[in-house]
Amino acid sequence: MLNSSTDHRPDKLYYQQNLPNHMVTAVIVLNSQLAIQYVNPAAEALLIKSFNKLKNQRLETALFNSPISEQRLKQLLTSGQEFSDSDVVLERLDKRTITVELTASSIELDMQPHILLEFKQIDQQKQISEEAFQHQQWESARDLIRGLAHEIKNPLGGLRGAAQLLTKELTVDQQEYTNMIIEQADRLTNLVDRLLGPNQLPKMVYNNIHVVLEKVAQLVSFNLPEHVTILKDYDPSLPEFSFDEDKIQQAILNIVNNAIQVLGGNGVIRIKTRAAINKTINGKRIKLCARISIIDNGPGIPDKIQDTLFYPMVSGRDNGTGLGLSISQTLINQHKGKLYCVSRPGHTEFSLLLPISEEITL
Ligand SMILES: Nc1ncnc2c1ncn2[C@@H]1O[C@H](COP(=O)(O)OP(=O)(O)OP(=O)(O)O)[C@@H](O)[C@H]1O
Ligand SMILES: [Mg+2]
Repeated sequence: MLNSSTDHRPDKLYYQQNLPNHMVTAVIVLNSQLAIQYVNPAAEALLIKSFNKLKNQRLETALFNSPISEQRLKQLLTSGQEFSDSDVVLERLDKRTITVELTASSIELDMQPHILLEFKQIDQQKQISEEAFQHQQWESARDLIRGLAHEIKNPLGGLRGAAQLLTKELTVDQQEYTNMIIEQADRLTNLVDRLLGPNQLPKMVYNNIHVVLEKVAQLVSFNLPEHVTILKDYDPSLPEFSFDEDKIQQAILNIVNNAIQVLGGNGVIRIKTRAAINKTINGKRIKLCARISIIDNGPGIPDKIQDTLFYPMVSGRDNGTGLGLSISQTLINQHKGKLYCVSRPGHTEFSLLLPISEEITL
């Protein structure tokens, strides 16, 4: 319905009629019997039903478990006082729960009182800010440890050098103690180097990720306990993309080694690849990513380290240094990717998202 004036610009009515169709906010209008009279396309998507199916249905039948009480809506009709709730959890008919911000107001349409419900989905924003927060925390922990490691590294070099000089002055029989100093200093240097983490920029080369996964499987196969099986579930259609083969191999190896350790000689590790579409990594939307998952059927991540799992020096093992996952995280961050984990007893899944395509501006 374009304006008939000569400039052919749409008029106000045109905008009023068309905008609800393009809004991200889901809009639902109820009549005084609380039956649905109108839903915009965003609300159709939210309720996973078409307008025709929803028309005249009551709200509680459209949602699996409606958190908006009938009493509150009736009160709204009588008092006219609008209300807003943040963090409303809606359970949809497909049992998926989503968190929304809800505003309910009373409006008059066709001289009859109606209720206007507006739902704004906030899960995604919430997830982005939580991720950003966790990322910041992880960065500060890593920087602190790196600073400390750096401070230890210099005197350690001096200590080793001095012990070496001293050795030369001693007879072979007397060298036992200086050798011990050198040996222990080397051990510490090794640890300090791991604490400092990867410090070279990745060398990005087009490659097939499955080549790397095959190498990891081959490397671990040499020491694989007899009753631990590695299953491969690859998506062969995954395109080649650019990454640093050595770094990604190291990142995945750390995760697979952890899985082997927790399985204690018995279990299954699945290495799975899939294409992942429209993923958010560090607040940026990426159209196409490769998702590599390492899944084991072991005991799950211990509760006490769930929140700090990727921090350096966090370990649930007696002789663990707690650096493996932190190093994997750094390597994946260098690729602008994301590493995350979901875990419950019997199912621990580490997933690595690596961008294949460019970011989309939101
Ligand atoms: N698949 C898994 N299932 C259960 N717990 C795990 C799994 N992967 C890691 N963990 C827990 O996370 C902790 C941290 O792992 P991380 O690799 O960072 O350090 P580590 O294995 O303890 O030591 P390092 O790798 O430096 O030798 C582990 O000690 C273990 O308790
Ligand atoms: Mg480890």
